[in-house]
Amino acid sequence: MRSATTGFVALAAALSLPSRSSASLHEAREEDPCATIAGLTFVPPADARACLNYFPFNETLRQNVLDVVSKVFDFYTFEDYYLAPVPEFGQPAVEIRDELARINSTVYASDYAFNLDLFDLVNSLNDGHTGWYSYCYWETFQNLLPAPVVSLEVNGTQDLYVVPDLVDFISLLGTNYTGYFDSIGFDWARLAGARVLSIEGMSAYDYVDYIADTVSGNYLDHGVRVNSVFSSYRINDGNYSQRFGDLAGPVFPNLDNLTMEVILANGTESERVVIPYLASFAGEPFTDAASYWANNCAANNETNGVDNLTQGSATPRSRAARQPRAALATSSSLGVGLPLQFVPNLTAVAGEDILWSYILPDNKTGVMFVGSFDPEDYYSFQSQVADVVSAFQNAGVTQLLVDLTNNGGGYVCLGEFLHSYLAGADFGFPGYSSAVRANELAQKIVAADIAQGINDSYAYYPPDNWAYPGNNSIMSDNFNYIDPYVTKTINGVQYNESQRFYDVCTPFNVTIPAEPPFDLAKVAIVGNGDCASTCAQFSTLMYERHNTTIAIFGGKPNETMQFKGMAGEQVLEWADIDSEIKTAGLQDDPLAPPDLLVNADFRHNWRTAYSWTDEEIPIAYYSDLPQLRFPYTPDTYMNPQALWIFAAEQIFGSS
Ligand SMILES: *[C@@H]1O[C@H](CO)[C@@H](O)[C@H](O)[C@H]1NC(C)=O
Ligand SMILES: *[C@@H]1O[C@H](CO)[C@@H](O)[C@H](O)[C@H]1NC(C)=O
Ligand SMILES: *[C@@H]1O[C@H](CO)[C@@H](O)[C@H](O)[C@H]1NC(C)=O
Ligand SMILES: *[C@@H]1O[C@H](CO)[C@@H](O)[C@H](O)[C@H]1NC(C)=O
Ligand SMILES: *[C@@H]1O[C@H](CO)[C@@H](O)[C@H](O)[C@H]1NC(C)=O
Ligand SMILES: *[C@@H]1O[C@H](CO)[C@@H](O)[C@H](O)[C@H]1NC(C)=O
Ligand SMILES: *[C@@H]1O[C@H](CO)[C@@H](O)[C@H](O)[C@H]1NC(C)=O
Ligand SMILES: *[C@@H]1O[C@H](CO)[C@@H](O)[C@H](O)[C@H]1NC(C)=O
Ligand SMILES: *[C@@H]1O[C@H](CO)[C@@H](O)[C@H](O)[C@H]1NC(C)=O
Ligand SMILES: *[C@@H]1O[C@H](CO)[C@@H](O)[C@H](O)[C@H]1NC(C)=O
Ligand SMILES: *[C@@H]1O[C@H](CO)[C@@H](O)[C@H](O)[C@H]1NC(C)=O
Ligand SMILES: *[C@@H]1O[C@H](CO)[C@@H](O)[C@H](O)[C@H]1NC(C)=O
Repeated sequence: MRSATTGFVALAAALSLPSRSSASLHEAREEDPCATIAGLTFVPPADARACLNYFPFNETLRQNVLDVVSKVFDFYTFEDYYLAPVPEFGQPAVEIRDELARINSTVYASDYAFNLDLFDLVNSLNDGHTGWYSYCYWETFQNLLPAPVVSLEVNGTQDLYVVPDLVDFISLLGTNYTGYFDSIGFDWARLAGARVLSIEGMSAYDYVDYIADTVSGNYLDHGVRVNSVFSSYRINDGNYSQRFGDLAGPVFPNLDNLTMEVILANGTESERVVIPYLASFAGEPFTDAASYWANNCAANNETNGVDNLTQGSATPRSRAARQPRAALATSSSLGVGLPLQFVPNLTAVAGEDILWSYILPDNKTGVMFVGSFDPEDYYSFQSQVADVVSAFQNAGVTQLLVDLTNNGGGYVCLGEFLHSYLAGADFGFPGYSSAVRANELAQKIVAADIAQGINDSYAYYPPDNWAYPGNNSIMSDNFNYIDPYVTKTINGVQYNESQRFYDVCTPFNVTIPAEPPFDLAKVAIVGNGDCASTCAQFSTLMYERHNTTIAIFGGKPNETMQFKGMAGEQVLEWADIDSEIKTAGLQDDPLAPPDLLVNADFRHNWRTAYSWTDEEIPIAYYSDLPQLRFPYTPDTYMNPQALWIFAAEQIFGSS
């Protein structure tokens, strides 16, 4: 195995060479740790780090990035909630502004080190709606351990195990991955189903907690993050897939190996194994450091926002095309296909893409596995739901299980649509009230949009994007919902926000039945709590408005877990908020952030959703525990069909 040299060779020199002779090219390759790994799909983590650390720390880039990040934080709806810990979620306080000042004065060994520190700060907010994603480093070399873990109940006792389906699962990565372990003589296959006693010298579950608190991010509730540490099933890009989980699939290649104390599945004695990680490259192709930077790290034509009046798409977009989205940032843990023996073998009912539906062998229970609310087609999702419900009714189905496992969210209005379809049109408004932060620049944007007659085709701030709360009618073009603003006190600090408003989701593109298609007492939700965004809003609405039974699988013994994570509301990506500012003509305002010089996204939670149960508390901060909790077992941990049959028996008592 080749180990690359780490050296902080000034990149600028390499970048500025206009055309090199083959001799100098050869020299450059000798010392260029990115050239060493160019073209490889799988790379030992130390070699990946040598390439990432090759780019020197750059003060100009730090100032640019921190300027953008601190000015976007002014729009962040939850900033003041971090001034104090939130014990019911296990969330510590985070002094965001003090931390930014610390990062502004820290000495970093590389640009990567600076970016990691900033990533960790934002990740420690445990809000997947808010994140620093530098595409130079984030998920470019994802570290993969050939030993994903799950918590299973076996003979009445819960313990941590290496996934029993290890051989089938890891083999799906192909021989480029497994061949590496062959070449270093490491036999990972024997770890299948091994019971894990300790990891890195900590008890197995303590190490899981540590990963949940330092790596997982995304979900405010610690219990929900624990499930994110584990391997689990999901629907990804229309297919069944198995996630590595955050222990076995962290997004940065910072660890070389993990030391585990295990008892093999067929053994009785414990043994210590050092398991190597191997990083998987998912960035843009490169041949050397210069092209790595150019293709992955330098700002490109899509990094920053535009004035949508002049530079947006030629024709204003339809309402559906610009429906607010709320979704977990991309994959956040690589998965490969679900091993075939776990893909449901029941006949799928009218489903496809992200919605897979079945009738269980009892002939009474219909299952809708809603993998996300981010389908390929906004309209098709609606007709699929209608088709599935009608097929269920024709088949005499009387009870419905909705599986939301690893649902990363999507269109806000499709969550409201599914709620509306199940609750019936007579139920009325299927959403909730929301508000944006009324910082000084946001107030200027709304005023400027109104003054210039900018409408909802071009931006998210104009009033005609939203409806007045209560009667659900679209706001008039000149209604300034942020002036006057509303004040409240969060952790002793005054917080200003807009007046409340509703989403405009109706009319939907299929007719909502007047009455619920199934007795709402016979509709239940199953999942693993890793239910983000629109998924969190959907499950909260079902619970708050209909007392829907929610059964959550997994987690650790004797620990609470919320039934949803990441319940902020609408996110704006960096290019989106930048476009709002530029479209309003305010890019030269002193409060406006500059263009980013690097290829990155700083997304933030731009809009807050409020609970029906207490309209002063954001859904994100409203504690909601599931009525039912079940551990995974060797039969259910990766087998959705077996899990549904078990859940239907437990919840509905059917056999
Ligand atoms: C294995 O890696 C090589 C390059 O190192 C690549 O050409 C090949 O396509 C890869 N094979 C698979 C199955 O990904
Ligand atoms: C730092 O980055 C800026 C912006 O990309 C660039 O112009 C400058 O040359 C870099 N400085 C060094 C020392 O590489
Ligand atoms: C970082 O510190 C410099 C002075 O050292 C200051 O000019 C700059 O405004 C600070 N940046 C941020 C984002 O606070
Ligand atoms: C579970 O219990 C059965 C029957 O008592 C026993 O045969 C089996 O070895 C036990 N399995 C484990 C993992 O303890
Ligand atoms: C356990 O299984 C492995 C193969 O998976 C085998 O090499 C080993 O000898 C077995 N150990 C015992 C104690 O049976
Ligand atoms: C495991 O990783 C550590 C830290 O990088 C390294 O020092 C050690 O040599 C590695 N152990 C093995 C057996 O590869
Ligand atoms: C940015 O450039 C790429 C490659 O040249 C092109 O495919 C893409 O359409 C461009 N995007 C925009 C928004 O102009
Ligand atoms: C279908 O899947 C279930 C659950 O995984 C399994 O028990 C059953 O044996 C499978 N049936 C067939 C015919 O493959
Ligand atoms: C469900 O329906 C199928 C097909 O009509 C039938 O063969 C099966 O016996 C039914 N199962 C139950 C539990 O009623
Ligand atoms: C404005 O244009 C940017 C860049 O194309 C896009 O990201 C953003 O979603 C647009 N905003 C609206 C409201 O259409
Ligand atoms: C969806 O519904 C909207 C509002 O009724 C309508 O304008 C649009 O044409 C419909 N689109 C499709 C594809 O049905
Ligand atoms: C809600 O459902 C639970 C059972 O899950 C039941 O005990 C409770 O009484 C119900 N509450 C209301 C208000 O219907």
